Amino acid sequence: NPPRPALIATDEKSSGFAFITTTYRWPIIVTKVIDDVYKTCHEIDPSKEPEKEKEGKDIIDSIALLKYEMQRKKSLTPIEDEEPDIKTWSEVFNHFREENWYSAPWLFTECYLYRRISSIFAKTEYWRNYDPFFRQKEETFKASVAAIIELAKRIDELISNQDYDKRILFHELAQISLWGNATDLSLLTNLSYNDIKKLQSTDAKALEESEKNILSNDLEKSWDKLSHYQQKRIDFVLDNAGFELYGDLIFADWLIQMGYASEIYLHVKRIPWFVSDTTPNDFNYLLSSLKNNSLSVSSDEKLYLEKLAKRWQEYIDNDKWILKSDYFWTSPYSYWHLKEQAPELFSDLSKSSLVIFKGDLNYRKLVYDCKWPTTTPFKEAIGPLATEKFAPPILALRTNKAHVIVGLPGGIEEKLSATEADWMVSGKYAVVQFNEGNQ
Ligand code: F6P
Ligand code: MG
Repeated sequence: NPPRPALIATDEKSSGFAFITTTYRWPIIVTKVIDDVYKTCHEIDPSKEPEKEKEGKDIIDSIALLKYEMQRKKSLTPIEDEEPDIKTWSEVFNHFREENWYSAPWLFTECYLYRRISSIFAKTEYWRNYDPFFRQKEETFKASVAAIIELAKRIDELISNQDYDKRILFHELAQISLWGNATDLSLLTNLSYNDIKKLQSTDAKALEESEKNILSNDLEKSWDKLSHYQQKRIDFVLDNAGFELYGDLIFADWLIQMGYASEIYLHVKRIPWFVSDTTPNDFNYLLSSLKNNSLSVSSDEKLYLEKLAKRWQEYIDNDKWILKSDYFWTSPYSYWHLKEQAPELFSDLSKSSLVIFKGDLNYRKLVYDCKWPTTTPFKEAIGPLATEKFAPPILALRTNKAHVIVGLPGGIEEKLSATEADWMVSGKYAVVQFNEGNQ
């Protein structure tokens, strides 16, 4: 049980975003899945692939039914498939079998929604590996081309000129990784090219400005630690694909080039998750689109991208970047349960000198998605992940998109609530929080 009341969608007042998400955002997200499968079905030649087409139509029916159940606040039904994580899901489900889509804790229902969608595909023959969010991820990535080029040039300059002040660069690159999280597709259900461009300002001045929106900022504390690292292991528990992932990899590239890290573990999701989260396929797609010239760029710009892709491919070939996708990341468990539920993952992470958690959902899971007073110390809110023997140092880079936030100085909540009703969920503000661990 969470150490405080959980965020819950029935509680319209103090978990407002849970209610809004369940009532308004999920139906849009699920409708888009239906549209996507419909589009793909339409591209199938039924005389050649009649079974695939038939399965596609059945998938649409099942997802429409899921949407109906959700909107009518029906009871949750058990997930039944033969995927390797089904036992975990059945066990957790037992706690909530009497609940409905609104009354169970939001963290559970939201993870359950994405696992239900994935189960519908997993039970088919021709759509088993189909990602109904891939189209959206691809489109947004392609629309981010201007910022992609800017960053490719910037990292090239930073690597070739070693005279720069590394402390300032750390602030810049960590923030590129942080603010990349604002382009999360599940939140921005209607994004124009211009909106994307605005969100992806990579200009050093703009970043200096946005550092003011980091309400609790341990960047300096993490720099004190990291600046003494030589050839350490660093982990990223990644969040969204596309531009956010690209920004994370730019940061990871710099960490390797500066000699702070010799190996970087990149943790991604095994199944399509929260619309835009990175799967192994998204990771490969990003790399191949830098290599194979599928973005519309000039021949000059192409050279920068090729150079970048070549270096990144070498990291992968030489095990400097290691891609991992543990089932725990797509379980409904909060990270208070990491050691108990995924002991091998925990002992692997404890070899790391720094585990960087990206994004909103990771943060919700770190702090158990419950109603902490906003001044609760971060260390207290992450529970066992701070105190457990061998717990690694962690750094959360999170833009705020849910009604949970800890570690704020007194008075901030009151000040912001008086002027900006949605400050906790708008994505405008962020937290950067570090904890030493217990190694
Ligand atoms: O829908 C719930 C939620 O956690 C939001 O709060 C957020 O918009 C989204 O899912 C995922 O955000 P992120 O990609 O940053 O984890
Ligand atoms: Mg995400």
